[in-house]
Amino acid sequence: MRSGPLAVAVCLWLVAGSAYAQDVTYTEDVAPILMQHCVTCHRPGEVAPMSLLTYEDTRPWARSIAQEVGQKRMPPWHAAAGVREYTNDRSLDAAQIDVILRWVAAGAPRGDEALLPPVPTFNDGWQLGEPDLVLAWDAPYQIEAEGDDEYRCFVLDPKFEKDQWVDVVEVLPGNRTTDHHIVIYVDQAGTIATQRDEAEPGEGYTCFGGPGFLAYMVPGWGPGYVPTETPEGSGYLLRAGSKLVVQVHYHKTGSPQEDLTRVGLRFARRPTQRVLYNGYVLGLSLQIPPGDANYVVTGRAPIQEDITVYSIVAHMHYLGKAMDIWAELPDGTRVDLVTVPRFDFYWQTEYALAEPQRLPKGSVIHMQATFDNSPESPYQHSDPPRLVTFGEQTTDEMAVGVFFHTRDAENISDGSTSP
Ligand code: HEC
Repeated sequence: MRSGPLAVAVCLWLVAGSAYAQDVTYTEDVAPILMQHCVTCHRPGEVAPMSLLTYEDTRPWARSIAQEVGQKRMPPWHAAAGVREYTNDRSLDAAQIDVILRWVAAGAPRGDEALLPPVPTFNDGWQLGEPDLVLAWDAPYQIEAEGDDEYRCFVLDPKFEKDQWVDVVEVLPGNRTTDHHIVIYVDQAGTIATQRDEAEPGEGYTCFGGPGFLAYMVPGWGPGYVPTETPEGSGYLLRAGSKLVVQVHYHKTGSPQEDLTRVGLRFARRPTQRVLYNGYVLGLSLQIPPGDANYVVTGRAPIQEDITVYSIVAHMHYLGKAMDIWAELPDGTRVDLVTVPRFDFYWQTEYALAEPQRLPKGSVIHMQATFDNSPESPYQHSDPPRLVTFGEQTTDEMAVGVFFHTRDAENISDGSTSP
């Protein structure tokens, strides 16, 4: 008798528990999450290995989905939760993760067909309208079926005869299965990029960590990337004679591929007074001993005038493990910009601040980078590990925080000042 009420309670709990789990169905609960957060990449012709557009596509992957989503490896998003908000945050919240896990635990039931949300339509063309200028290299670049990833820089000449304000840079990747990510650098003088291009046969030149010169960066592309206009009153200022260097990271797919990527520029349509600059906070002194699984390097960038920061990139190479970027205000207050606790080289993200961050003169931006140079490091390239220093090659490392910002007092109305 004494155990009676408890047994009843447990029994009720079990019944309630299973009814609860059965309530979660694909059509009503899971499909809306997948349509919003997964199918930009998980559909035919895109970078992800399988489509998640339909129940039939998704069902065989249920266990794997529970694993990837439960461990927050999918959707790919590497900024720590709860530190700061970003407009391009792809992560699922705890309730969405819970729905997916309960659905898989309940045997991935289909549910009522009538509740199925519409499959979103995709516009694979220009997202922000026809650009004013479209640039591409001459002939499709050929990518072999097998082998190491390739990093190729292509030089494009916009033939600007005067300085040009641009408020949208949009990339149309030529091949979404092999193009992994695209970074665009501007060679404002237009000479070094051309020399490197001419020094190597074929279209473009090989470039892993960067284009080979200190360059001005404008937006590129990555899976799921959504192009945006520059913030009100700001733009990219491209000098007369400048060249664009488009760096493409190619992933080998098992079959030969070709790629002809296009870059669209929209000339600023709104009044533009401020340049959207790149700022850098560097850990140049890095010397990562072989075997060290937790090597830390720091950098600082003093801020010389009032600025507003709009977005941040945390950049390292294969051995990068974590990065934290924050600002210290003149009164000593700490302001978080981005914390990347599990850095992944394959996902180079520009974190767009939901609330732009003003930093007064006298602030300092700090960067702390952690590297794993042990034999167990997930993308370790040297066997045995070797001493690694700062550089652009695959086997070098970088600890670079990039902060896109404007200078608050700048007012260029005639476009005569250049970055
Ligand atoms: C921004 C693109 C992108 C988004 C969004 C995305 N994925 Fe992925 N997904 C990938 C890529 C690329 C891979 C291949 C592995 C890798 O590169 O990490 C992958 C791999 C996976 C895998 C492992 C497949 C295997 O081979 O084992 C699962 C499961 C998965 N994704 C589920 C999801 C789910 C569920 C969502 C949404 C909640 C999602 N993904 C959102 C790009 C994406």
